[in-house]
Amino acid sequence: MSESDRVLELAVRLAREAGAIQRERYETAIEIRTKSASIDLVTEVDHACEAHIVGALAGERSEDAILAEEGGGSDREDATWRWIIDPLDGTTNYAHGYPRFCVSIGVERDGVREVGVVYDPLLDELYEAVRGRGARLNGRTLQVSDEHDLDSALMATGFAYDVRRSPEDNLEHFARIIKQARAVRRDGSAALDLCYVAAGRFDGFWELKLHPWDVAAGLLIVDEAGGRTSDLHGGPPPRSGRTIVASNGRIHDALIAILGGRPPR
Ligand code: IPD
Ligand code: CA
Ligand code: CA
Repeated sequence: MSESDRVLELAVRLAREAGAIQRERYETAIEIRTKSASIDLVTEVDHACEAHIVGALAGERSEDAILAEEGGGSDREDATWRWIIDPLDGTTNYAHGYPRFCVSIGVERDGVREVGVVYDPLLDELYEAVRGRGARLNGRTLQVSDEHDLDSALMATGFAYDVRRSPEDNLEHFARIIKQARAVRRDGSAALDLCYVAAGRFDGFWELKLHPWDVAAGLLIVDEAGGRTSDLHGGPPPRSGRTIVASNGRIHDALIAILGGRPPR
């Protein structure tokens, strides 16, 4: 078994275990707090999932670096393997009992995305990819859609937690795309949005001001399903997640032209 296979196996196990915590505590009374803004929530389940994953990694892969959203990991520049963890992507949904959330675990090898795992515990859908070896959903090979016309495309996006106060709020982009695509969804889990592009359920996705843990797994899963990922101008997608466009590839240039262009007057 290769090192990548071992990392994948562990990532799958930990995503399933954290997902089980989410499933068990879904729609129960949980503690909810706010973070950067009154609309930016964190629950005790976010922390429980992160503690479970980070605790297991500390025991099993103590040499590896960990970047975890809620701050429980210890990140290092010099590690070969770096785990980038969103313990619960879709926290607002989770807090409201809206059934769309997941665990996202991306793993870089020497700074390059190598393994990606996203688990939706309610649908029991496990997305996984290893660089150069394709992407799978519950063992079935994933392939992006073949839609080539934005006019018939189902799109997804999201809005950052500073939407109330920042002028860089994605509303101009949203306005432009909704006038040209078949429809646009805003469903509250960027990691799942990316996996849905990989699965051909969405034809494209874009979002601003995401974070590394939102996209570390999903970008690899889209790439490995034959899609295309970039920043708003067609360059490589930033590891920071600051501007992300992902699509089936066929509508990508049209998306970039609309998103990267100047707002219409
Ligand atoms: C959020 C979700 C949401 C996206 C936000 C993210 P969180 O992550 O992915 O879809 O629009 O930008 O911050 O806070 O639920 O882990
Ligand atoms: Ca997230
Ligand atoms: Ca999160």
